[in-house]
Amino acid sequence: MHQFSRLFKKTNIGTMELKNRICLGEIAPQAKFIGGDVTRQSVDFYTARARGGCGLVMVGGVMVDLTGVGGMNWCLIDDDKYIPAFAYLAKAVHEASPDVKVGVQIHHLGRQMYKDSLNAYAFMNPVAPSPIKIGAGTVPHELTTEEVEHMVDQFVEAAVRVQKAGYDCVQVHGAHGYLVSSFMSPFSNKRTDKYGGSLENNARFACEIVRGIKERCGKDFPVLMKINGDDFVDAKEQITPEYAKALAPFLEEAGVDELHVSAGQYDALLPAV
Ligand SMILES: Cc1cc2nc3c(=O)[nH]c(=O)nc-3n(C[C@H](O)[C@H](O)[C@H](O)COP(=O)(O)O)c2cc1C
Repeated sequence: MHQFSRLFKKTNIGTMELKNRICLGEIAPQAKFIGGDVTRQSVDFYTARARGGCGLVMVGGVMVDLTGVGGMNWCLIDDDKYIPAFAYLAKAVHEASPDVKVGVQIHHLGRQMYKDSLNAYAFMNPVAPSPIKIGAGTVPHELTTEEVEHMVDQFVEAAVRVQKAGYDCVQVHGAHGYLVSSFMSPFSNKRTDKYGGSLENNARFACEIVRGIKERCGKDFPVLMKINGDDFVDAKEQITPEYAKALAPFLEEAGVDELHVSAGQYDALLPAV
């Protein structure tokens, strides 16, 4: 056990103190919220992990906008009406274990929304920084500059709801080729406005989300972000470890408190979820 001695030591993410370094990673709660209500199944799932001793429990991807949803049973946080359900879950996790911290990952599927998947909203088109489809998917709508700005607001408002519901932190899903990630990656971002065309412009969408959350929720409210350290796609232009290293200072400057480095996306040579 010697090599794991740090695992059980306290640490901090921004102002948030964690009793150990064990985190329940983001696992989407799809069917666990139904019709704006949290289910018993969901409460049991997350409270069991809290009782098991995790320092941090992250509630997996909840969608900031209807255009980012993968199916009818996916969980949304685009309206204040969802706050009571989220608050119930936060309270249950906090009560399950002293000192456990709990956060919510805010998410948008972007170009990786399969319009024709079994339970998707068939009337929705995927949206993306550029009209580049994946596999047999639908060509996504290229968001206008104004629509991108609106999407920043959707993420920020979602984070405000997470904070109002009593969570200790929020995580922005900026990995795996989904909307935020697809802006950061030169593989999927071919824009020529302020949201594309250079490393700084590719980082802008993510940075504006982080800055917006800090402005609305206060600088002490921890903002975490999951990013790709590698897209693992078969293309010259993509996120590589070097590219991710160059992106990180922009995110740090915007105020992000922690980066969770993951990898892969739907076009990848390796599977990702
Ligand atoms: C059932 C399931 C649901 C998942 N849901 C999410 C999710 O909502 N958000 C997310 O970022 N990752 C999700 N993941 C991916 C994992 O959190 C994790 O990133 C992945 O297993 C790779 O591990 P790594 O990030 O340490 O490389 C999910 C994985 C599984 C198996």
